[in-house]
Amino acid sequence: METTIIAISNQKGGVGKSTTAYNLGACLALNHGKRVLLVDFDPQANLSEYLKYEPNGNPTMTQLIMSFHAGTPLNAEATQNAIRHSDTAGVDYIPSDINLANAETLMVTMISKEH
Ligand SMILES: Nc1ncnc2c1ncn2[C@@H]1O[C@H](COP(=O)(O)OP(=O)(O)OP(=O)(O)O)[C@@H](O)[C@H]1O
Ligand SMILES: [Mg+2]
Repeated sequence: METTIIAISNQKGGVGKSTTAYNLGACLALNHGKRVLLVDFDPQANLSEYLKYEPNGNPTMTQLIMSFHAGTPLNAEATQNAIRHSDTAGVDYIPSDINLANAETLMVTMISKEH
């Protein structure tokens, strides 16, 4: 199965990145029958908020990134548990939270941190 990754980024604030991610994802899922995984990489977590994310103790992007950085990546089951589903948008998603801001600080000195 072919997979396409779409990254939505723009240095300028408030230009519709999160809104585009939500609506593009929902459109691809609901109108085009695509399987969509929305990955919220923003500590502001607006996309997670739009998707009505409620913390339930399962991992978020914060735990995925932090555990990887610590050299002890989460196992397959824990990683799977980071994935939630939105019936409204018809998509799977991995939520973010404010603690993801700490990851950026930790990764400052990492080589190839952008990957
Ligand atoms: N096409 C549009 N028409 C009208 N309002 C819009 C449109 N797209 C986004 N908005 C509104 O603009 C505001 C900013 O949008 P959004 O949060 O998606 O931007 P952002 O680029 O993700 O912001 P940030 O840099 O803070 O993450 C929101 O209030 C959103 O509802
Ligand atoms: Mg945003």
